[in-house]
Amino acid sequence: MADVHDEIEARLSEVRQFAPSPEFAASANVDVSIYDIATADPEAFWATQARNLTWATPFTTTLEWTPPNATWFGDGTLNASVNCLDRHVANGRGDKVAYHFVGEPEGDTRTITYQALFNEVCRAANALTELGVVAGDRVAIYMPMIPEAIVAMLACARLGAAHSVIFGGFTADALAHRITDADCRVVITADGGFRRGTASGLKVNVDAALAQCPDVHSVVVVRRTGQDVNVVDGRDHWWHDVVAPQSPHHVAQAFPAEQPLYVMYTSGTTAKPKGILHTTAGYLTHVSTTHAMVFDLKADTDVVWTAADIGWVTGHSYIVYGPLCNGATSVLYEGVPDAGGKDRWWRIVEEYGVTILYTAPTTIRTLMKWGDEFPMAHDRSSLRLLGSVGEPINPEAWMWYRDVIGEGRCPIVDTWWQTETGGIMATPLPGVTATKPGAAMRAFPGISLDVVDHEGTSVGNSGGGFLVVNKPWPGMTRGIWGDPQRFQETYWSQVPGRYFAGDGAKLDDDGDLWILGRIDDVMNVSGHRLSTAEVEHCLVAHASVAEAAVVGASDETTGQAVVAFVTLRSGFDADDALVDELRALVSKMIGPIAKPKRILVTPELPKTRSGKIMRRLLRDVAEHRSLGDTTTLLDPSVLSMIDDLMRSTPSDD
Ligand code: WTA
Repeated sequence: MADVHDEIEARLSEVRQFAPSPEFAASANVDVSIYDIATADPEAFWATQARNLTWATPFTTTLEWTPPNATWFGDGTLNASVNCLDRHVANGRGDKVAYHFVGEPEGDTRTITYQALFNEVCRAANALTELGVVAGDRVAIYMPMIPEAIVAMLACARLGAAHSVIFGGFTADALAHRITDADCRVVITADGGFRRGTASGLKVNVDAALAQCPDVHSVVVVRRTGQDVNVVDGRDHWWHDVVAPQSPHHVAQAFPAEQPLYVMYTSGTTAKPKGILHTTAGYLTHVSTTHAMVFDLKADTDVVWTAADIGWVTGHSYIVYGPLCNGATSVLYEGVPDAGGKDRWWRIVEEYGVTILYTAPTTIRTLMKWGDEFPMAHDRSSLRLLGSVGEPINPEAWMWYRDVIGEGRCPIVDTWWQTETGGIMATPLPGVTATKPGAAMRAFPGISLDVVDHEGTSVGNSGGGFLVVNKPWPGMTRGIWGDPQRFQETYWSQVPGRYFAGDGAKLDDDGDLWILGRIDDVMNVSGHRLSTAEVEHCLVAHASVAEAAVVGASDETTGQAVVAFVTLRSGFDADDALVDELRALVSKMIGPIAKPKRILVTPELPKTRSGKIMRRLLRDVAEHRSLGDTTTLLDPSVLSMIDDLMRSTPSDD
């Protein structure tokens, strides 16, 4: 079989390529010269960007690199919270809105200016100081998507303490592991949050977790839902008791450029999550620069909605630090997309005049599945740019995002990056770079990427291989908390001296970059390598398919066999004819080798709380194994339902 990537991508790039829009280009923040400027001297490029930050002591050194350890702007000092808040207030922008907060319950909204956010962060910093938090500490934050979560993050940053935000959907055990691993002594939480119309419990999980974490001495609790909570005397404090009475002023100290800013836990190939460390100046430089250039930010007029959770890196970089460094106005929405109706998102877009919308393909596909009538019922003329992040976006979802949501008017930026990279690494630049549906196109200026083979040799145009980063960049993780050896082994040893992303990628004939997904999702069928993402691309190309997840299930004859799980768009029925049609389509688009051995039509796919499809668990289902650890799933019952379905449906090959 010829390279399976070629056919599908040639087909797509042939028919669909969008030149940069002249209208957009006319007012874009950057032009094509930015690539040459950055390539000529990447360090100078980043140093120029870093000078947009406010420094207490200006830096004189840029990069110091002793693989795998980098320092950026190492002799400078600054304060992250000052860069997000004080400097905007001092520049007369205190009345500008930092966040339009939209709670999940209808009508529960708050508008928070930079001045108000500054004052609240100062109060929280004073309160944390009273509780004994000092520079160099770690503080756990386990909160719903409410403004106090951001206040808590910035208060930690203000004190030089690293925060470790733990996604509110995690269980007590996961929380305990993360609190212990980073040795957090203070936890900031809420009684609960609103999700899917009900009040979830958070404090109750903290209580359970802390039974395993004896070193935590203080817990600060925001009252969000009003549910009853257990209050442990001497340990637990209400936010409104300890924060509200504080002075709204706090003089921030400057910290070294490499002061730890946060730890964010993410899954690796082993069961133990990795605490990814980010530090201050390089990270802020990376996220503020990418936020301004990739989203073409006009801070005075844009309303940015990064529809992600602050419990994940996308929230850290593009709800909190990037937008705040740039003095932008953001929407912060607490709930699920269909709380209060399947048009909830579009009501928010209309009401706040959202101009830049950034979300994950999985959400785009869900919205697509619900039907066009929901977005169509609302005015979306404010939108001017759409972004995608987190997984490969299939061309059909991309086209729907462009044509239906963006009314064919908004450039789409498909941004590839990771928790470890801190900020966006590959993306088109709106108004500058052409776009292709499903392609991340090229490295961001100042970032050097390559696609290499097992030996670390560049594959060149039209070749597929491993995605690597050739040179250190400002936002790169400074390590795995407490585990330098794992850091070296995971990221810097596969291709010595270069950062190994763990993603497969391909450069097409034009040299444009396509991300094929995690290399652990690559299947091997009869000795042929097949990307799960690629088969999924084919399946979702069919008019009936909303979402598809493909796994390689072990097979006696072929090594692995392709097993597909699909959900259908409304109006289509799951029958044998349709399944045959889908198998034929894959066979036609990629080749007979890729034809799924089984296709199971299911009402839903198992997803993590951050919206990623759990292919690993689907592989267990496909191989009739007992279901493994399902605690990271949003709804574990979906998986059992699929498992039952798999066992009760006869094989269709
Ligand atoms: C995947 C999210 C294709 C990739 C910011 C990466 C993508 C992992 C894209 C990181 C994209 C992210 N196209 N795949 N535009 N963006 N990914 O750490 O596999 O939650 O390695 O960071 O998501 O996920 P993480």
